[in-house]
Amino acid sequence: MAVTTPRKLDAQTLRQDFPIFGHPIHGKPLSYLDSASSSQKPRQVLDAMRTFYETSYANVHRGVYDLAERATAGFEASREKVRALINAPSTAEVIFTRNVTQGLNLVAYAWGLDNLGPGDVAVVTELEHHANFVPWQQIAKRTGAEFRVIGIDDAGELRLDGLDAIAQAGQIKVVAANLVSNTLGTINPIDRLTAWAHEQGAIMVVDAAQAVPHRRVDVQALGCDFLGFTSHKLCGPTGAGALYGRRELLERMSPFEMGGEMIRKVSIEETTWNDLPYKFEAGTPAFVEAYGMGVAIDYITEVGIEAIEEYEHELVGLVLDRLAELPWVTVYGPPAGRRAGIVSFNVDDVHPHDVAQILDSEGVCVRASHHCTQPLMRRLGITATARASFYLYSIPEEIDRLIGGLHKVRKVFA
Ligand code: ALA
Repeated sequence: MAVTTPRKLDAQTLRQDFPIFGHPIHGKPLSYLDSASSSQKPRQVLDAMRTFYETSYANVHRGVYDLAERATAGFEASREKVRALINAPSTAEVIFTRNVTQGLNLVAYAWGLDNLGPGDVAVVTELEHHANFVPWQQIAKRTGAEFRVIGIDDAGELRLDGLDAIAQAGQIKVVAANLVSNTLGTINPIDRLTAWAHEQGAIMVVDAAQAVPHRRVDVQALGCDFLGFTSHKLCGPTGAGALYGRRELLERMSPFEMGGEMIRKVSIEETTWNDLPYKFEAGTPAFVEAYGMGVAIDYITEVGIEAIEEYEHELVGLVLDRLAELPWVTVYGPPAGRRAGIVSFNVDDVHPHDVAQILDSEGVCVRASHHCTQPLMRRLGITATARASFYLYSIPEEIDRLIGGLHKVRKVFA
């Protein structure tokens, strides 16, 4: 049996694949600490997409000529890469979407409208991004179902001790949660939540936007029913994402959007639907982007998903240690051992937008916002945070520059 040594990630070398780092910001080297919002793109992805446009471009699934067949082959090869990345049982269960938001809305509308009603309960968490919160809240309202939220403790971790009380609200039909919180970086116990959801007779919907690019995600091991992620956070282009859905559920569901490609036969009297996954892919898809997502999957797979996770774990430990030395900084969320490469914080008496602007003047990019998690902000008693987030090209020098920038923030607002 071959013995494999775990790969170590070399961020300094990988960084050279990303042209953006050759472009200074305000005359200073770019320190990009906003990968949770969107990741930068390696030359391999950019070049591959350009080559696709230059040599293989024609609409997919519509032409019988060679060029169209080549385009279709590139698009479908990407579907197989997505399947392998998340260990879905089959490509029929991999739907290309525009982003995670579209995937989660697909489930909320196409499954929720037909399966929720009075007496039923849709459950989300207080850590959800609005994309996995608002659709369930609104579909619950439309169908007369209850809407319940699993709370968090002061460390930003889910209060699973509240589940029994939630189960009293009615027949739980769906539980929707993120695998990694985009605001606090909390790694959620999705396997336990899935087990609970299934015990209740509910489906489990997972927002894996902040997980799939950074750690091994296996839909069969998780046992979830739906899971969405997006290309632009994993070194791929914008406008592409994927939704995994369990075949039995997808087969029973009505389409979400209707138009070309998703039909089998249309007459004035009736329409029948195409096979999976095409039943859920109406219209010309963003196929060059989907292809680019496949190239990005090759890239992160080559780097090594485990190596990425381990490296980000080191970086987050480092930044938490450095921030702990600043008594005027409040950090939100769990300790390094239970969080991904995302750190939200505030500087005493300074609005996070001001923090981000001063950091920007130093070439340091962080997000300052409610991060599309207003219920979480309310739970924390704040309106916004500054957030630093990391990826495979992040380097410790960027943390030094973040800390240096925060000292400047403190001085300016003293
Ligand atoms: N959902 C992305 C973020 O957390 C945009 O920044």
